[in-house]
Amino acid sequence: MNTPRCDRTTAWAALHDHFATRLRRFDLREAFAADPGRFERLGVQAPEVFADLSKNLLDAESLRLLLQLARECGLEARRDAMLAGEPVNATEGRAVLHTALRAPRGQGPFSDEVHGTLEAMLAYAEKVRADGRIRHVVNIGIGGSDLGPQMVLPALDAFAHPDLRLHFVSNVDGHDIAPVLRQLKAEETLFIVASKTFTTQETMANAQAARDWFVAQGGGDVARHFAATTTNVAAAAAFGITTTFGFRDWVGGRYSLWSAIGLPIAIALGADHFRALLAGAHAMDRHFAHEPLERNLPVLLGLIDVWYRNFHGFGSRSVAPYHQGLKRLPAYLQQLEMESNGKRVDATGEPLPFHTSPVVWGEPGTNGQHAYFQMLHQGTEVIPVEFILVKRPTHGLPGLHAQLLANGLAQSRALMIGKSAAQAASEQAPTASRTLDAQVLARHRAFPGNRPSTTLLLERLTPAALGALVALYEHRVFTSGALWGINSFDQWGVELGKALAGDLLPRLDSGDAQGLDASTAGLLAKLRD
Ligand code: F6P
Repeated sequence: MNTPRCDRTTAWAALHDHFATRLRRFDLREAFAADPGRFERLGVQAPEVFADLSKNLLDAESLRLLLQLARECGLEARRDAMLAGEPVNATEGRAVLHTALRAPRGQGPFSDEVHGTLEAMLAYAEKVRADGRIRHVVNIGIGGSDLGPQMVLPALDAFAHPDLRLHFVSNVDGHDIAPVLRQLKAEETLFIVASKTFTTQETMANAQAARDWFVAQGGGDVARHFAATTTNVAAAAAFGITTTFGFRDWVGGRYSLWSAIGLPIAIALGADHFRALLAGAHAMDRHFAHEPLERNLPVLLGLIDVWYRNFHGFGSRSVAPYHQGLKRLPAYLQQLEMESNGKRVDATGEPLPFHTSPVVWGEPGTNGQHAYFQMLHQGTEVIPVEFILVKRPTHGLPGLHAQLLANGLAQSRALMIGKSAAQAASEQAPTASRTLDAQVLARHRAFPGNRPSTTLLLERLTPAALGALVALYEHRVFTSGALWGINSFDQWGVELGKALAGDLLPRLDSGDAQGLDASTAGLLAKLRD
């Protein structure tokens, strides 16, 4: 695409200038005091998700320049190219069309094929749900063939079939599959081998272990008890699996929960809820495609990500979902964001002179508060936090939800308002600390404040809301990747380790250390002792 790289635009230079002259001294507390309309101006309603962007370190000029940056980088043309199915994943010569998987029939590219597979998969899911004898479903897959369903199922637990237990096996470590197998009876179990390529070493090894276990338990009917979700139907057939649901190479692994890879979701939740998940994502796709950039939530979040990474110099972002069902969301987002945007060269292969993906990490609130929030409040680095609050719970227990929400609100407020040493000194110190000089103690008890956060607010964690939330993250990652001029859709960085593992596997047996560095050779020898 014939648009300049972000660092070669006039907006980039202007943003640097703006940051140095105005934003370096920006203070959220002063910004709110000076502008009573800040919350209204920086609140954005997208489908199913309201975002409060007002506690971020930016002013109107920052936003104006970031939007100018998006335009100079051709963000809208890049987005439209992806949505139209152009081969935007240039290093693999592929289109990127996960959005087609959630478009209503007749509206997206490959519509007949997409809906044909969807209907077949949902019909199979309903058959499994109605079967009565199948009580356990084990998804064997890793990365994008694991994290999506594994993230969605606890989130939508309230909508799940009460008599079916879903299990996930991903790691090639036998400590992953062994405790799962211990709970199972062959005749009650369906294994889904989920692998886009059907070549991934971990998945193939676990699928083999599952089949061996199944046969050893006297399970005869592999065809009934194994299904595969893959683009490589021939390899699945060679493995002996005849029930397969396919998808195309234009579905990236980390964008694949909407495809046949979503089969465990469809089995747990049923066809209607799976369709609602797709519909929520599609609503966010439309917002991303059509909303002006100024009100386009994925675009605004992506711009703030660039602002923080390249101008403020923040190296990580913490995700704090205040909903236990979203406990796997941080892990899901790690693959989505860091595998997509953890890149160091531009489209022409030239090394980038600026940073790309931040580290994304987190735990559900309130647990994170009792672990690493200390560092978020008083550590030496500023780490923007993303709070996710859900207004209405599905559990029906009185009292707890208000406490959860109060904690979420309190944390973003505490990060922002802080507490001066003078304030801390004026408060009664805990008795045990009174041996220390009062001023010294006050400095330990002070909070710098002015620490940024975004709050995403959902009405309820329904299939549609979760679909919209995940699509929001996908398009936000697209936005920052497009501005950085990188390919967000390949993952060459995982290949070297895979190849070296293939080389080392026989050496563990033979002890051959020829050509290895001294450290690896030494460790190999110790492992064989
Ligand atoms: O190792 C990286 C990766 O290729 C991911 O991108 C992908 O989601 C995962 O491995 C699993 O791949 P597959 O679905 O082909 O087994």
